[in-house]
Amino acid sequence: MYKVKISIISLALAGIQWSAVAQRKTINQRVDSVIRLMTLDEKIGQLNQYSGREVTGPLVKQNANMLNDIKLGKVGSMLNVQGVQNTRHVQEVAMQSRLKIPLLFGMDVIHGYKTIFPVPLAESATWDMDLIRLSAHIAAKEAAAVGLHWTFAPMVDIARDPRWGRIMEGAGEDTYLGNYIAKARVLGFQGEKLGGLDAVMACAKHFAAYGASSSGRDYNDVEMSDHQLWEIYLPPFKAAVDAGAATFMSSFNTLNGVPTAASNYLQRDILKGKWKYSGFVVSDWGSIDQMIKWGYVGNKKDAALKAIISGCDMDMMSYSYLEHLKELVTTKQVSITLIDDAVKRILVKKFELGLFEDPYRFCNEEREKTELNNPEHVKATLKVAQKSIVLLKNQDAVLPIQKTVKNIALIGPLADSKRDMQGAWAGANEAERVVTLLKGLQQKLGQDVRITYVKGAPIKTNDTTGFAEAVKAAKNADLVIMALGEAYDQSGESRSRAEIGLPGSQDDLFTAVQSTGKPVVAVLMAGRPLIFNNIANKANAVLYAWFLGDQAGNAIADVLTGAVNPSGKLPVTFPRSVGQIPLTYNDYKTGHPYNANVFQYQTGYIDVPNAPRFAFGYGLSYTTFKYSDLKLDKTTMAKNGKITAGFTLTNTGSRAGEEVVQLYIHDPVASVVQPTKKLKGFQKVVLNPGESKSITFTIDNETLSFYNQQLKWDSEPGKFKVMIGGASDDLKLQADFELK
Ligand code: BGC
Repeated sequence: MYKVKISIISLALAGIQWSAVAQRKTINQRVDSVIRLMTLDEKIGQLNQYSGREVTGPLVKQNANMLNDIKLGKVGSMLNVQGVQNTRHVQEVAMQSRLKIPLLFGMDVIHGYKTIFPVPLAESATWDMDLIRLSAHIAAKEAAAVGLHWTFAPMVDIARDPRWGRIMEGAGEDTYLGNYIAKARVLGFQGEKLGGLDAVMACAKHFAAYGASSSGRDYNDVEMSDHQLWEIYLPPFKAAVDAGAATFMSSFNTLNGVPTAASNYLQRDILKGKWKYSGFVVSDWGSIDQMIKWGYVGNKKDAALKAIISGCDMDMMSYSYLEHLKELVTTKQVSITLIDDAVKRILVKKFELGLFEDPYRFCNEEREKTELNNPEHVKATLKVAQKSIVLLKNQDAVLPIQKTVKNIALIGPLADSKRDMQGAWAGANEAERVVTLLKGLQQKLGQDVRITYVKGAPIKTNDTTGFAEAVKAAKNADLVIMALGEAYDQSGESRSRAEIGLPGSQDDLFTAVQSTGKPVVAVLMAGRPLIFNNIANKANAVLYAWFLGDQAGNAIADVLTGAVNPSGKLPVTFPRSVGQIPLTYNDYKTGHPYNANVFQYQTGYIDVPNAPRFAFGYGLSYTTFKYSDLKLDKTTMAKNGKITAGFTLTNTGSRAGEEVVQLYIHDPVASVVQPTKKLKGFQKVVLNPGESKSITFTIDNETLSFYNQQLKWDSEPGKFKVMIGGASDDLKLQADFELK
């Protein structure tokens, strides 16, 4: 009967152009009609997500229970089932359930599925929203082509502690930049509207404040003022809501003593209340159950109770809803209205994805073949990788490699290491696809230049037996390129590090090689900001290459040889000492302002300066840019008015180049003490040698607003400072104005 009803409605819909609103109404009505047919067990089943690591591959038969649960309608979604064949197989089992409600298949497609792009922190260094969106779009296209409907991305957690391994998964330290990147990634994954065969549902995670885990230890508690939460950590989530993110994931941390999967404040008051969010929230893996380990509840039933009441719609891998919700409903501890609301949110997405019309619409072998080997995707990852590289130092213009260089010693454990280039969370990666730096340089330089490659040392251990060969190669070379850094599994989830220097004996390898007196270019690869003072002081040039994905070697070779002029800017501060962490450009003024020349009674250390090693927004080019002639169109602004800040940017070097111009604001007197500067605008500008362009930024009330003591987003009249430049610590132009 139900099947007939659904297909009649589907037929009626075919060919009709509904407006978005009418269509939503229709989906709502259709969902309600499905819910009316569901038993309590079937409803609870929709709220349950299993991992399919066990149901695909050779273990299929052994996991009859899981498949049986699907057949009984006890599962709404699976994660980690991938590939057309596998998703089809498991969906076929769901189609044997009484109501034939299709499953959602989700997976962590973080920076590419098969074609691996730079890690998200690296992509953020492009400051290029079109490229970031393109990267997410290609990841989605590939994911959708293997039967997936849902990626657990983007991670929009602001992160200011590079000890935290998951800093690699986000947009860095800044809220303003993070808002744009959150939007670009959501739109990239989902397209303008769900339902396209080249799109998957996005999942804004981890709600919330996970990036502030105390001491930089993953999964740790977070104690945070409301002010900081609203000002710094929540806005990218709001940006994801506004961009239409279909789903949210709660986090592993507690927020002020409450596990976030049980946070009424986050999930009900803010997300579903104030922000009117209509998508659904999934817990993080096992995090409902983990409330017991936190000591928040004494048993799993209470954990399930706390989670469902506070707005967690789907349980990822705790089995808590499956085991306890029925009893909680029948004993009236949980109202059926809450269950229906959660079920509805999930079914709406299944309808929007078109799965009720055709549960196999994402299962197409042909598409799987063509999308996964698509040369356009390879081209795109190369482009994103080129633009993610940040040039940190270039003494005496040692880069790009001069034509006179005929012998290069390429030294270091990351020079020819395929898997490491892909970084953590590398989808369904195939390390064979990776172009390493050795390969990239060989291809780029051809026969003209001899490249002697010596590994020199392992990445992680203190082995020095390769040093002698490395030193010998350096002595015979005109130029040394050293590829140093972390292994792919030293950043990412559960990969916090207390010391964030180069692991193993790599720093000593650098010293041994550099002592030869040959010019050394250090290419550093990592998923986080590392601390590398020795290299920063002594290398002739430093390129920060993060983990750049499948085309890493080609991208780095393009920059080293000058085929591409580097344009990346740091999306996160690089400290000079672990003791400075957390360190951000966005810090507050204090009553004892820092003065490098004064020994005490100031907000600083007596042993290390306050300044970072490399500041947020910093990055060099092979050309130079001049900032001049800042003019504000007025010096006073009404609250509902605008000010235009205009200036001239000139390329004063001899090559074409791209500059990320940045605008910062400071509010010197406010009812809540304000940071010394806040990023409030940026643009990427391409200029030919000698060329000048007039650039304008618009300042309005939004630019000047902050969360006041009542947590109201508003501005306050008074003087403001506007600062413009190419890095947060190099703001060449400044002007003042007044808000009336
Ligand atoms: C991570 C999430 C991820 C989930 C599913 C968890 O351990 O924290 O970010 O989406 O696993 O793989």
